[in-house]
Amino acid sequence: MTEKKLLRALKGEVMDTPPIWLMRQAGRYLPEYRKVKAEAGSFLDLCYTPKHAVEVTLQPIRRYGFDAAILFSDLPLIAQGLGQELWYEEGGGPRLAPIRNGAGVAALDVGQVTDRLAPVYETVDGLSTALPTETTLIGFAGAPWTVACYMVEGGGSREFAEVKGWAFRNPDEFGSLIDILVEATAVHLCNQARAGAEVLQIFDSWASILPDTAFRRWIIAPTKALVRRIRAEFPDIPIIGFPRAAGVMYAEYVAETGVTAVSLDTTMSRPWAAENLQTKMPVQGNLDPLALVNGGACLEEEVRETLEGFSGGPFVFNLGHGIVKETPPEHVAALVALVRGETV
Ligand code: CP3
Repeated sequence: MTEKKLLRALKGEVMDTPPIWLMRQAGRYLPEYRKVKAEAGSFLDLCYTPKHAVEVTLQPIRRYGFDAAILFSDLPLIAQGLGQELWYEEGGGPRLAPIRNGAGVAALDVGQVTDRLAPVYETVDGLSTALPTETTLIGFAGAPWTVACYMVEGGGSREFAEVKGWAFRNPDEFGSLIDILVEATAVHLCNQARAGAEVLQIFDSWASILPDTAFRRWIIAPTKALVRRIRAEFPDIPIIGFPRAAGVMYAEYVAETGVTAVSLDTTMSRPWAAENLQTKMPVQGNLDPLALVNGGACLEEEVRETLEGFSGGPFVFNLGHGIVKETPPEHVAALVALVRGETV
């Protein structure tokens, strides 16, 4: 059997037709997802019920035949694994009982992660047997910095005043939270690899909000430590890093962290990335999810630019950020056909 397409691209092979998958490819834009979510009762019940989580992971594979499936779960679940209270507001993002001092950090327990998140690993295990043989299974986690943002702010945020305030005011104490997150995330990702994940992606969605020195301390160093821990157990597993909207800091991230490939956000200049990043490692991205909502000529033009821009090196076609719920499902079918050079 020839090796799976995504794995070949992540090994550096340059392909005429790149592999394609989309961040948040399972979700509310699909009517069949909304049906299973209603059946599960809530988003968290969906994440923690392997039967349902397997089903929604498979839905976009059935519809579109993507080259990879990504485990259905969410970033802040690791906080719950550590003992922090987590809930979701209907139609909104994650909410957590915020942790803002050393006592809060001391109450977290890495020893509980494997047991508390056992249903997630059961889902990975179920997927590894349910997926078509040509489809790669991706496991994922949030990077320590981004998960810390949620844990300290208590959810999403506009200013990130609490987490930045703590990091600048008392770096040693904040650092103890980051250290715990490195450890817990390594456990979480190794558990996924053990259960059958073939590639791991690290989402650093809030990488864009730190100046250089803080970026090195809270993004690069923890990611490097995390990658090293994973590699101690799984030396060959490909790891994709996604320091979203990190701009020129992408170059240091690529040079320092030890990731196998890097995922580019929508704001990244394609010529700059081709010259400065794709010459060092495979890149993934970076179609604007809103071009996918528009469809038609706009989508065609953006797809063409993306394919041309990254035709000179190893490349994985993806969005520059997660798919949005307003996306017409037929536009996704059109996208896959465009990338594969097929007529719709
Ligand atoms: O990609 C996939 O299909 C796999 C599953 C997945 C989800 N979230 C499911 C989800 C993945 C990989 C994520 C990653 C994630 N989660 C990120 C990183 C990527 C990014 O967007 O930067 C972040 C920041 C989160 C945190 C999160 N979860 C937010 C901010 C929200 C609310 C916003 C939104 O789009 O709904 C969620 C909820 C969430 N995660 C949903 C899904 C399908 C929607 C929940 C629902 O069905 O009501």
